[in-house]
Amino acid sequence: MVEFDEIIKTRRSIREYGDREVSEEDIMKILKAGMQAPGSRLGAEPWEFVVIRNREALAKIGEIKPRVTNAPVAIVLVANIERAFYKTVWQQDMGAAAENMLLEAVNLGLGGLWNGVAPEEERMAKIGEIIGIDDISDMKPYCVITIGYPAEGWENKFMDKFDESRIHYEKY
Ligand SMILES: Cc1cc2nc3c(=O)[nH]c(=O)nc-3n(C[C@H](O)[C@H](O)[C@H](O)COP(=O)(O)O)c2cc1C
Repeated sequence: MVEFDEIIKTRRSIREYGDREVSEEDIMKILKAGMQAPGSRLGAEPWEFVVIRNREALAKIGEIKPRVTNAPVAIVLVANIERAFYKTVWQQDMGAAAENMLLEAVNLGLGGLWNGVAPEEERMAKIGEIIGIDDISDMKPYCVITIGYPAEGWENKFMDKFDESRIHYEKY
């Protein structure tokens, strides 16, 4: 386990992975972290998760999101609008879950990448088709999180993004 402050500071987008498999246990921890995120209505969170290890499926998704091709595992985050109470803010709900998952990956010594899908409808439809969703009006593929042990040169490490000029007190 890594100190929380260190997790936040060192998380980076890890786009290449080593061969080492990611355990089911770790994937479950990452899914639990996702579901622990704040949502716009408690008990009406829209998120669904599709865990993919099948190499053919990963390669197919890779045709749309290239970094998925060589990842040991990918999780497609899907917003199930029927579950949502506030139906217009699903992108915020899903974003909170995605970030929690990336942070948990760092906590476990893994690396992750947010592969953007929504809001581009064509991309959403193509990803949906691959995972068995043929109508994206109520089931919206949001992003694909790839997970793996970072390849050499892709370690999670601190890069200072702080910019004091973005902070405003009382008024902009
Ligand atoms: C909404 C969103 C979509 C993203 N989509 C992609 C993507 O499709 N491919 C990719 O390589 N990185 C993607 N990223 C990762 C960003 O490029 C990355 O977070 C940014 O460059 C900052 O680098 P860092 O994560 O290492 O701090 C995405 C991030 C977000 C938040």
